[in-house]
Amino acid sequence: MRGFFAIGSERISKPMNLGALMRTGHAFGASFVFSIDAERNLKEAYAADTSKSAGQIPYYQWDSIDEMQLPKGCQLVGVELTDEAVELPVFRHPPQAAYILGPEKGNLSAVAIERCAHVVKIPTRFCINVSLAGALVMYDRHLSMGGYGPRPIMPGGPDGSRRRKHVPGPDRMKPGS
Ligand SMILES: C[S@@+](CC[C@H](N)C(=O)[O-])C[C@H]1O[C@@H](n2cnc3c(N)ncnc32)[C@H](O)[C@@H]1O
Repeated sequence: MRGFFAIGSERISKPMNLGALMRTGHAFGASFVFSIDAERNLKEAYAADTSKSAGQIPYYQWDSIDEMQLPKGCQLVGVELTDEAVELPVFRHPPQAAYILGPEKGNLSAVAIERCAHVVKIPTRFCINVSLAGALVMYDRHLSMGGYGPRPIMPGGPDGSRRRKHVPGPDRMKPGS
């Protein structure tokens, strides 16, 4: 997959949510995770992060949007449920992107929205959990940029088979098996 991405949140207050964002970001191949004006005590975030992503993926804490420093060419993409936002299923993700989510209580600040090159929304009837919203955005990026091609017309996988013998992937194999 070409390019890179980062994921973060503004004024995040629950360490569990930051931990979940870190873990999911790590799993989807994020280059780094960031927060703007976040809760500083990360103890619980590390505890929530069962993949130990906090030690595996760079984490940047900035105190304000003005302090945020993104790599050259990296576009900031706001994730917020607003009338003007582009619906995620029809959004073309920038190859180099940093996705920024809002806090658990409230929305992305006007300053943050102003700095965004794009704002996207997930087509839900109401706001969902911030870490879940982040996971859906990362999944959508993966889906649209992963080179999977069109889905088959008939239910099932691309080769037409409906059931296959399932063998655990290498990441699930027990050592020595
Ligand atoms: C739980 S929501 C914020 C709560 C909500 N604004 C409120 O006070 O009722 C936390 C963050 O998740 C993201 N989010 C949740 N649902 C979303 C959606 N459907 N589309 C885009 N972003 C969403 C946004 O970044 C939002 O700021």
